[in-house]
Amino acid sequence: MRRVEMGDGQLAVVDEGVGPPLLFVHGFPLNHSMWNGQRDRLSSRYRLLIPDLRGFGGSSAVEGIASMEGFADDLARMLDALGVTEPVTFVGLSMGGYIAWQFWRRHADRLGRLVLCDTRALPDSEEVARGRIMTAERVLVQGAGIIADPMLERLFAPGTRTDAAACVEATRQVIMSTSPLSIAAALRGMAQRVDATAWLPAIDVPTLVVCGEHDAISPPAEMRSIAAAMPRATYVQMEGVGHMAPLEAPSVFNERLERWLENSSDLDR
Ligand code: MLT
Repeated sequence: MRRVEMGDGQLAVVDEGVGPPLLFVHGFPLNHSMWNGQRDRLSSRYRLLIPDLRGFGGSSAVEGIASMEGFADDLARMLDALGVTEPVTFVGLSMGGYIAWQFWRRHADRLGRLVLCDTRALPDSEEVARGRIMTAERVLVQGAGIIADPMLERLFAPGTRTDAAACVEATRQVIMSTSPLSIAAALRGMAQRVDATAWLPAIDVPTLVVCGEHDAISPPAEMRSIAAAMPRATYVQMEGVGHMAPLEAPSVFNERLERWLENSSDLDR
């Protein structure tokens, strides 16, 4: 991985392949490795930029509150540092999608197309936000282990947990290796994220909305309504998988993504 100097820390980023840039942004509390299933297939035709967000994987530590706005600004600065001037296709999963809304709002000129995987436009309810703050405090005292099992149960479809145990175990290892400070900071940042639903009709870049059939965090009905509210969105449901659709069924996801990339164009923006 390359290390990009940000002035106040470093971001670790996979930068491979040649072609139009695809920026892959991972979910919580993961790192770039959740996109490993996309790398072989896509790097022959696209430049793949797959960072570890600040606080995650090999990137610099974070503490306090990691806001979605801050993550979006980091990504824009990282693109500057890597000399990427062409608008990117932003592929975000879940928390990566929360960051995508802010990337659109704050760096619209850098956004060519959007791929929203298993994410929400709605903010947390007060109850969910309170729960996140309490979990943040517990993680700081008891460690990342306390969120691993409950998270894995919500991230993967029941069939994936039985049929692809190695993939689930690898995700557990990623969660366990994440700093409690970063987990707490991202939980606080997600708890205070703003409602993006009113922005949806104005986001006029070609958009692919992907949702796993059994997604328990951002269910199909909710993601279908995100797509319906966006002027240029296509909705795709992936059967048999959950919240981690691109990781659970990489070949299906890659095939859908490639087909859409070929058919959509940012030239007519
Ligand atoms: C994620 O996958 O990024 C998280 O489940 C998002 C969330 O907790 O809202």
